[in-house]
Amino acid sequence: MAAIALLPLLLLAAPISPPVYPYDGSHALRRTTPHHPRRLPSCLDSQSADRSAHRRNPFPKRYVLAETKTTPAVASSNSSTNRSASELHRSHSHKQRVRTSVVGFITGLLAGIASGAVLSLLFRLVVNCVRGRYRNPGGASIFSPKHIKRAEDLAFLDKDDGLAALEVIGRGGCGEVYKAQLPPDPRNPDRPGMVIAIKKIMKRTPDGAEPTSDEESRLLDKWMRQIRSEIQTVGHIRHRNLLPLLAHVTRPDCHLLIYEFMKNGSLDLVLNGVRELDWLARYRIALGIASGLEYLHIDHKPQIIHRDLKPANILLDDGMEARIADFGLAKEMPDAHTHITASKVAGTLGYISPEYGQTLRFTAKCDIYSFGVILAVLVVGKMPSDPFFHDTDEISLVRWLRKVMSSDNPTAAIDPKLVGNGYEEQMLLVLRIAIFCTMDDPKERPSSKEVCSMLAQIKH
Ligand SMILES: Nc1ncnc2c1ncn2[C@@H]1O[C@H](COP(=O)(O)OP(=O)(O)O)[C@@H](O)[C@H]1O
Ligand SMILES: [Mg+2]
Repeated sequence: MAAIALLPLLLLAAPISPPVYPYDGSHALRRTTPHHPRRLPSCLDSQSADRSAHRRNPFPKRYVLAETKTTPAVASSNSSTNRSASELHRSHSHKQRVRTSVVGFITGLLAGIASGAVLSLLFRLVVNCVRGRYRNPGGASIFSPKHIKRAEDLAFLDKDDGLAALEVIGRGGCGEVYKAQLPPDPRNPDRPGMVIAIKKIMKRTPDGAEPTSDEESRLLDKWMRQIRSEIQTVGHIRHRNLLPLLAHVTRPDCHLLIYEFMKNGSLDLVLNGVRELDWLARYRIALGIASGLEYLHIDHKPQIIHRDLKPANILLDDGMEARIADFGLAKEMPDAHTHITASKVAGTLGYISPEYGQTLRFTAKCDIYSFGVILAVLVVGKMPSDPFFHDTDEISLVRWLRKVMSSDNPTAAIDPKLVGNGYEEQMLLVLRIAIFCTMDDPKERPSSKEVCSMLAQIKH
């Protein structure tokens, strides 16, 4: 950008200084001697009048005054006058050149700055169009104009009671999740508007109270700003196994994140619900999560670590394909925000790798650990928080699984609802991958790419 800004400066500054030629005293002579437009009358002709003088002096009289070197007599009388005149002329032309250069430089500099500013403005405009896009005065950023065609459709969220009448479909550490339907597209009024999920990220302290001091408010404002910048990144990520963020609305007390509503809900609701998930559906979900994770860890630059991978953050689309939700946002949300209630702590703790407790550093291998727990949940059919594990010696799903898988009867680890479906061998292979992913030493865990290829190799 700086190079682009300086380019016009260089281009403009260069031609403004005039070309400098060395001055010699014969300049006047060379210009006037060769061509005289017409002959002068003989009375005025200095050549004929001074023919005798000419014989003595090879140069006509009128040239003698201009010539300084070849007529010693005249030169001696005029030499000092001519020298000072030429010095005066030289210093004058030098001053002129300096002045022209300075003016040229300043003009070039100003032109460079102006064109640099215009170029950078254009550049930012293009970047904003591509990234921050389509901001409306109400504060909504639309990331998917294909789904949300008009910013006015989200205008109801600018009102204080915009959410009050909406159905609450979930409650997370950061706030409620609401369901709403957008008005139909005016160009296609017969088709009902899109159903969306609105996730509210509240501005509040970890214990849920309002900020009491100025310092606390300042920190919360900073946190809200950081989340906003993460939202801008997340809004542009697209992968078939990641739940896309369609829009973002900023309100003084919260952020509202707009997603497509997943009518099949989240994996935890499905696994705990009445609806049966057969093995092939579970296997496809596992493959989908692994593929979304590979994109976040390996394909996306910079790498995105989810930090809160758990069945509640795996949503299922119309085709029961897995969509990872809440990716890219956990970084700026302290644990107290994501794991706020006692039941959440138990549930979420089951997915957190052991080294995180010691280092408090989240790595991609922490996500792999959480993914391993989800794989285990898909085959075992029980959450880590299931009371079943509290009654075992191991008290943890991961440790219980290791023990059963090394016993004589590893099939005992499989969900009783799935036993006898003919896929026991495949399910045991998936449990082996789960154990591999949940190794205590993060270095021994596979990468998301390896997990994907291991899962894909299981033939059904
Ligand atoms: N886009 C969506 N479609 C349908 N249900 C959703 C959607 N987003 C969230 N939910 C529901 O709301 C619940 C709470 O979501 P969230 O605030 O992300 O909390 P959590 O911390 O449990 O992930 C989810 O577990 C899910 O059941
Ligand atoms: Mg969530």
